[in-house]
Amino acid sequence: MTVTNKPVNNTIQPHGGTLINRQVEGAEREQLIQEAQNFPAITLNPWSLSDLELISIGGFSPLEGFMGEADYTEVVENVHLSSGLVWSIPITLPVDEAQANELNIGDRVALYGEDNHLYGVLDLEEKYTYDKEKEAKLVYGTTDVDHPGVKKVYEKGSVYLAGPVHLVDRPKHDEFVDFHLDPVETRQLFSDLGWKTVVGFQTRNPVHRAHEYIQKAALESVDGLLLNPLVGETKSDDIPAAVRMESYQAILKHYYPADRTRLVIYPAAMRYAGPREAILHATVRKNYGCTHFIVGRDHAGVGDYYGTYEAQELISQYEAELGIHILKFEHAFYCKKCENMATAKTCPHDASDHLHLSGTKVREKLRNGESLPKEFSRPEVAEVLIRGLQEK
Ligand code: ADX
Repeated sequence: MTVTNKPVNNTIQPHGGTLINRQVEGAEREQLIQEAQNFPAITLNPWSLSDLELISIGGFSPLEGFMGEADYTEVVENVHLSSGLVWSIPITLPVDEAQANELNIGDRVALYGEDNHLYGVLDLEEKYTYDKEKEAKLVYGTTDVDHPGVKKVYEKGSVYLAGPVHLVDRPKHDEFVDFHLDPVETRQLFSDLGWKTVVGFQTRNPVHRAHEYIQKAALESVDGLLLNPLVGETKSDDIPAAVRMESYQAILKHYYPADRTRLVIYPAAMRYAGPREAILHATVRKNYGCTHFIVGRDHAGVGDYYGTYEAQELISQYEAELGIHILKFEHAFYCKKCENMATAKTCPHDASDHLHLSGTKVREKLRNGESLPKEFSRPEVAEVLIRGLQEK
């Protein structure tokens, strides 16, 4: 899709008022690539590379680079940037001490990927150490290294580099090229489609019946649904993004109205930070032009680290400041007596009448090539997942 300069008639402003664009193009880009050969260089892991991309395409507006210490501290301690704008997760660039010592404030630092490709440049304004335990406790709510997000905190370098970034090349998402739109493009798309209200849906899982139920319940009162699956780094036992993408296309084709739904990738890494990440997810979808965002049960959670509705409780405190409507849904399930999807708000029957399958059980069944009950998952989805997981 081409980016046009047509004014976008969207109803929601980006977070902080301006959609950030840190991509360098044309002659300026050529020159920066040339110059970068003489800059000190660091290699970004996939997580940092996805952060660089999200900053540069405006997904993380108003951020223009990796956070400096004042913003970092305020975000960790008080869920705000130093400007006073609500922000829940630090977006930082970690390096180890030895690397940090070789860099000087004022340097321009070439940012390479693990594939040795130059993706961008950082104007180094600050480097600072941080308290890992504090970050783990306040952002993830635990210091347990079995938590996948906390594990990353303890593994990463002990110094953060900060400053504005410039993106010279996009990380490739070749397999998802048809579903790769930036915030400026989704905003344009919603405007072209005449959608004044759009609900964003974050997911790192296949869309099962419970997800479908809450999405469609939301769609009853808004113009369109942005199915916006996260396709960056996830933990190894999550279903791979490529398999999920195929399953999303299958369910959309068979069960959703084409003129009311769009599938677009969200190229971020998963932090599993539960309540704090729910706020980030909503903020980013606001930047993509969504007016509404779904937070269901245990949003962005993992294991038993967060209460079922803790993400909803935390985000409720910041909803007014966020400026995007949060649609909260209780735990949804299939009820055999109702013969329908329901939640405790709409079903009077006992838990024994409800169909329950844990994520672990579902993955185990799929890996063994067993189908899933149609009350849990659409057969077209299960079919894709079984094939995808067996080919893997
Ligand atoms: S997440 O880590 O991306 O949040 P997942 O893909 O499982 O995980 O969930 C996507 C969204 O659907 C989240 O808002 C989550 O809270 C919600 N959700 C998932 N399963 C259910 C369910 N059974 N009932 C209600 N909401 C759910």
